[in-house]
Amino acid sequence: MQSAIEVTGLGKSFGRQRVLSGLDFTVAAGEVFALLGPNGAGKTTTINILTTLVVPDEGRAVVAGFDVVSEAEQVKQRISLTGQSAAVDDVLTGAENLVMLGRLSGLGATAANRRSAELLERFDLMDAARRRVATYSGGMRRRLDLALSFVVTPAVLFLDEPTTGLDTRSRRELWDVIRGLADAGTTVLLTTQYLEEADRLADRIAVIDGGRIAATGTPEELKGRLGGETVELRSHSGALLHEVPTDGTVSGLRRALDVLDESGAEGTVALRRPSLDDVFLSLTTPGATTDPPEKADTRTQTLQEQR
Ligand SMILES: Nc1ncnc2c1ncn2[C@@H]1O[C@H](COP(=O)(O)OP(=O)(O)O)[C@@H](O)[C@H]1O
Ligand SMILES: [Mg+2]
Repeated sequence: MQSAIEVTGLGKSFGRQRVLSGLDFTVAAGEVFALLGPNGAGKTTTINILTTLVVPDEGRAVVAGFDVVSEAEQVKQRISLTGQSAAVDDVLTGAENLVMLGRLSGLGATAANRRSAELLERFDLMDAARRRVATYSGGMRRRLDLALSFVVTPAVLFLDEPTTGLDTRSRRELWDVIRGLADAGTTVLLTTQYLEEADRLADRIAVIDGGRIAATGTPEELKGRLGGETVELRSHSGALLHEVPTDGTVSGLRRALDVLDESGAEGTVALRRPSLDDVFLSLTTPGATTDPPEKADTRTQTLQEQR
């Protein structure tokens, strides 16, 4: 299958700050691909380059078969990008915004109206349809912004932290919408700081840290990289007393049980598979990057706060 996105050796600096450095990844057509990384990792910069808003210093990116620098117009015709609330007109109602974009994108009046109604329903904006956007709450504005990027189904859809600021229910609904689009053949590249989101939604994940890809794979492959299960010993009230990582082999498991036995603690034994959290922390903790420790510490804390 032809690749929808091909990124080779991408580099970008702002002033003296090197934001992307030798970024490489490929997204197959029809795939949901998550760029997972902490704040400041370079996710938005990557999206901006792929959507032709920012020109890279080095390397090359091809989207839907066209070069993002030398064939920017062709790329623009085949993509859509959310996270730009600037596209929303405050003076118009939600419905008017959707219909206007539909008309601008070449839909007839009937089709534009039908599409608008569908999207208002799908994004739970029925009550807000006839109200001016200026009166919307932050969450409503966010949902309208997302709805606008679904007016015409693009070949490649870019979603920059699509569910940031949404409540749990809206987040899950949006996941369903995104999966539905992917099932219908749209390639989706999304960025997220949420491990659960990447795990649930993405066919493949690239962990981006310090402007380069730290690891790529399916959620299962990334978890598999950490090796085997961890043996846990929990008290009868459920508190974690000990945990011993294993290499996943029978003898490794036996050794882990011996360690727990020697500890003399009483409790119940369980096996835990590595989680995506474990993968992420192992890839982005201090020592894994060249970042100063204080920055990495903040990052780890941010990740824990999100759970
Ligand atoms: N236009 C810009 N000018 C200067 N610095 C920028 C610009 N855009 C991004 N940066 C810097 O590049 C780094 C990566 O930013 P960004 O790509 O937005 O990361 P992310 O989206 O992963 O949080 C940050 O340190 C940010 O401050
Ligand atoms: Mg960002």
